[in-house]
Amino acid sequence: MEKEKKVVTLAYGCQMSERDAETLKQITRQEGYTSSDDLASADLVIINTCCVRESAENKILGKIGELKRLKEKNPNLKIAISGCMVQQPGALEKLQKRAPHIDIWTGTHNLHEFSALLHKAEQGEKAAEVWKEPQKTLESTPLAEKGKLQANVNIMYGCNNFCSYCIVPHVRGRERSRKPEEIIQEIKDLVASGCREVTLLGQNVNSYGKEFSPPYDFADLLQEVDQIPGLLRVRFITSHPKDLSDKLISVVASGEKLCEHFHLPIQSGSNFILERMNRKYTREYYLSRISKIRELLPQASLTTDIIVGFPGESETDFEQTLEIMNLIQYSHAFTFMYSKRSGTLAADMEDQIPLDIKKRRLQRLMSVQNAQSLEWRQRMIGKTYEILVEGPSKTNPERFTGRTRGNELVVFKGNSNIIGSLVNIQIIEASTWTLVGEIVNPEM
Ligand code: 5AD
Ligand code: SF4
Repeated sequence: MEKEKKVVTLAYGCQMSERDAETLKQITRQEGYTSSDDLASADLVIINTCCVRESAENKILGKIGELKRLKEKNPNLKIAISGCMVQQPGALEKLQKRAPHIDIWTGTHNLHEFSALLHKAEQGEKAAEVWKEPQKTLESTPLAEKGKLQANVNIMYGCNNFCSYCIVPHVRGRERSRKPEEIIQEIKDLVASGCREVTLLGQNVNSYGKEFSPPYDFADLLQEVDQIPGLLRVRFITSHPKDLSDKLISVVASGEKLCEHFHLPIQSGSNFILERMNRKYTREYYLSRISKIRELLPQASLTTDIIVGFPGESETDFEQTLEIMNLIQYSHAFTFMYSKRSGTLAADMEDQIPLDIKKRRLQRLMSVQNAQSLEWRQRMIGKTYEILVEGPSKTNPERFTGRTRGNELVVFKGNSNIIGSLVNIQIIEASTWTLVGEIVNPEM
């Protein structure tokens, strides 16, 4: 009997990267591999990469170095590096030179061809391929992992926005939307396999379907997904503030399964910086979107991404960011120091901000946000929320975890019978990151 082949798949970066890693894992499953977490006994290791910030790239390069030692111990090990880092113009040659121990290289656009590359590597050859352009028909083949409670579903790929700091449009190409019927069918199949919550993924879901005729937009898609029997919850990321329509907010407000959570990256609170970032909205416009959400959905959770130290950011610009955070009160914020990405407009801007100032600003931003996250959660104490039970907590098997519709993490005493169902939980304790609660009707 042939020995069982094991694959370890690691993903760095955003949910799109995780979703791509899942596609690769499924392809290897079709090739006879079983997925595993144990690097030491792996026959194949796949790293799906991210290049959105230099820190991510450095971490990945470190991991690639570590794998060299693993390969020295196990010369039969095959290593594949895929995704955004490889897709950057001119990156492949540099990476190949730096890491000759890697067997397979693939960009973001040709992931679906991974089997062919794997076959070549299994024959002892080096395999490297990076397509310049995506091929739509391949992207319609979802290859999602079945049987999980939660699933990420791509609704579109690429980005047309070219924010001046961002590498994503350079490595994921222009926007292209999947057909609604393909998305609905994929979700129905996932539900049939036990999935209860889907997160619809796109770099800017609000521009979904722009190319469709007759017109059909993201709000229309949400309305249809809301009707799928057996599905309990629908989430979506990411919303570009410039395209967040009143129609979308009202569809979320009237939907049954549509979670009241908007991830709305603001990036900066200064109009001067927003303009230089090419974000195409002003702070006033952003605030008007927040008012609309709060008017129709007073309970909605808001989360955001913020960059500090963008080229030319003065102390006053930075203060404006802190000020708008205080006005809005996010439940959570992902905060970043600006990182220069070659090939983007901002990389060539003068007045780059020194690292020590970026670090200081990031510290201040994080302490403001941590205080707000704590206050946000403290305000939830005593109230009851609907939670989708996910499973036992990693640190304490008697405790279970789940999330509110607003995506806040809650820990509570439960049992495995309720995994995958909705329970009402009263919040009794709050910290910056988590809530502790009790099931309201434990006999149910
Ligand atoms: N430097 C720092 N943060 C960045 N992001 C994107 N590009 C950069 C960069 N060059 C952040 C943005 C985006 C999030 C996914 O990553 O805030 O919303
Ligand atoms: Fe990057 Fe801007 Fe596109 Fe988001 S919208 S992926 S930040 S270019």
